[in-house]
Amino acid sequence: MSTKEEKKCRHLAIIMDGNGRWAKAQGKPRTAGHLAGADNVRTIAIAADQLGVKYLTLYAFSTENWKRSEQEVNYIMKLPGMLFGKYMQEFIDRGFQLNMIGELDRLPKETQKVLYDAVERSKMNDGLHLTMAVNYGSQREIVLAARKYAKDVLEGKADLNLEAEGFEKYLMTKDMPNVDLLIRTSGELRISNYLLWQIAYAELEFVPEAWPAFTPEVLDRCLAEFEGRDRRFGGVKNE
Ligand code: FPP
Repeated sequence: MSTKEEKKCRHLAIIMDGNGRWAKAQGKPRTAGHLAGADNVRTIAIAADQLGVKYLTLYAFSTENWKRSEQEVNYIMKLPGMLFGKYMQEFIDRGFQLNMIGELDRLPKETQKVLYDAVERSKMNDGLHLTMAVNYGSQREIVLAARKYAKDVLEGKADLNLEAEGFEKYLMTKDMPNVDLLIRTSGELRISNYLLWQIAYAELEFVPEAWPAFTPEVLDRCLAEFEGRDRRFGGVKNE
């Protein structure tokens, strides 16, 4: 692999923040921000694919987001139907493979159906791996993984010499490489329980733009900045 390819971002994760503030700044209800945000998923997925990203993992709904008003939660739960109803055929034609992480069984039945359909309809594709994190929380993911591992040990299916690589097989992201770059929009400087294990050696970028205003140009800038960074993974700088 050439050095240039090694520097490319293979797995990009994004915390899509700022929908509400974006809407408020325009005198619109928060739901208008979520709608614009859902539409931007398509725009940014296409741009990421064209810029060479292979895995794009988007934080759509966290385990903490249930604390929002019932009306807002209900609205967000309808967004996958809107997004995939409008764009699924295009995603398939572009070769995208849809995946989900999170505990989908707590979502409304109709939302679950839409999400599972998207996965099923695109499973033969091998282009951009577009993963939506829905009812996802990283600590919960790690706890569930630990429980599965413990069960395997008790049943004699695993031994106690587990290392990081073996543990990753128990995570919801088991078929993905670890994250190269994590971007959070809207100026907040937090990780918010997102992919804590998977970002161990990721580069981090925090951009001021709200998610609905996060354009392909901003993404391009972020990726260029990423490629310019010196990733040493705990080693020493190459002379
Ligand atoms: C953060 O903005 C956004 C969310 C919690 C919801 C994200 C959802 C989408 C972008 C739509 C796509 C979703 C699916 C399920 C397809 P915020 O509401 O926290 O904004 P604020 O911090 O300005 O209030």
